[in-house]
Amino acid sequence: MRTSFTELMGIEYPVIQGAMAWISDAVLAAAVSEAGGMGMIATAGRDAQWTRKEIVKARERTQKPFGVNLVLQEQDWREKLQVVLEEKPACVSTGAGNPVPLIAPLHEAGIKVLPLVPNVRLAKRVESAGADALIIEGMEAGGHIGSISTMSLMTQVLPEIQIPGIIAGGIADGRGLACALLMGAGGVQMGTRFYASKECGAHIRAKEAILAATDTDSVTTGRKGSLVRSLRNPLTELYHKMEAEGRAAEELSQLVRGTSRKASVEGDVEWGLVQAGQSVGVIREILPVAKILNDMMEQAKEAYELLSGYFSE
Ligand SMILES: Cc1cc2nc3c(=O)[nH]c(=O)nc-3n(C[C@H](O)[C@H](O)[C@H](O)COP(=O)(O)O)c2cc1C
Repeated sequence: MRTSFTELMGIEYPVIQGAMAWISDAVLAAAVSEAGGMGMIATAGRDAQWTRKEIVKARERTQKPFGVNLVLQEQDWREKLQVVLEEKPACVSTGAGNPVPLIAPLHEAGIKVLPLVPNVRLAKRVESAGADALIIEGMEAGGHIGSISTMSLMTQVLPEIQIPGIIAGGIADGRGLACALLMGAGGVQMGTRFYASKECGAHIRAKEAILAATDTDSVTTGRKGSLVRSLRNPLTELYHKMEAEGRAAEELSQLVRGTSRKASVEGDVEWGLVQAGQSVGVIREILPVAKILNDMMEQAKEAYELLSGYFSE
């Protein structure tokens, strides 16, 4: 498939495997890239040494382009940026913080820059600063989220930008991909769907929690500005109970701090947050990433044919 994003990155399918802290390592990222998408290594919670090791490992597993995600609120993001500048993955996606100062040094190293934007104002600002593509993530996404839905964001951001827009948040199959492309996007980014993939190294109990979840099971914790979306469990129930009791913000954030690792690495899906998006209900099987991508292309084609049928005589 050819889109503005596949052309930009020289890849086969317009699908990014969204960075997932504690989850998307070299193995998952390389598998996605090898299958024709764009794999992303998540560095949140990890150090610079781990970042270098994973980039080297991914390169041993695939010659195709893959990327690295930097979360710009972390204390040591500059050290990780230095590693990235030296190791030169194909692209860097950024989450939180201001990506503008990173654009020039990353470009000098030949690395494409894909900042995550949660609104029109930031999208325009980051595009004019030289970003290569934008990840437009709505609040249906798993993990840390903004406050605008994916449909509203793509409706409003895409007409305002010239560079490829990558839609994220609640995209879990080829119908979502077709929808984003019809809206004028260059591709999509999925996290939750790849969480429940064969090559993902997350704990089996976390993957099984994703398979068991239905449309109403994805809930948010946190305050405006730092909302996190994950699956309802005893921890989110306790959080909401304490919130209703009017407990202090610090006590509430202490309750959930660091608990994503607890679920995804240790497998404690009751007292750890299984971060997952709102379209989790269509994810029913742990599949190899190549099958996820192939199925998506088939479904997108079917969706396109369905729509074009409406216009024929
Ligand atoms: C478990 C999990 C961890 C995530 N960690 C990060 C991260 O470290 N950095 C980032 O930019 N986005 C992160 N995200 C967001 C994803 O990259 C992606 O944009 C999101 O999952 C898309 O929505 P979906 O889950 O509905 O597919 C995370 C998402 C999940 C589900």
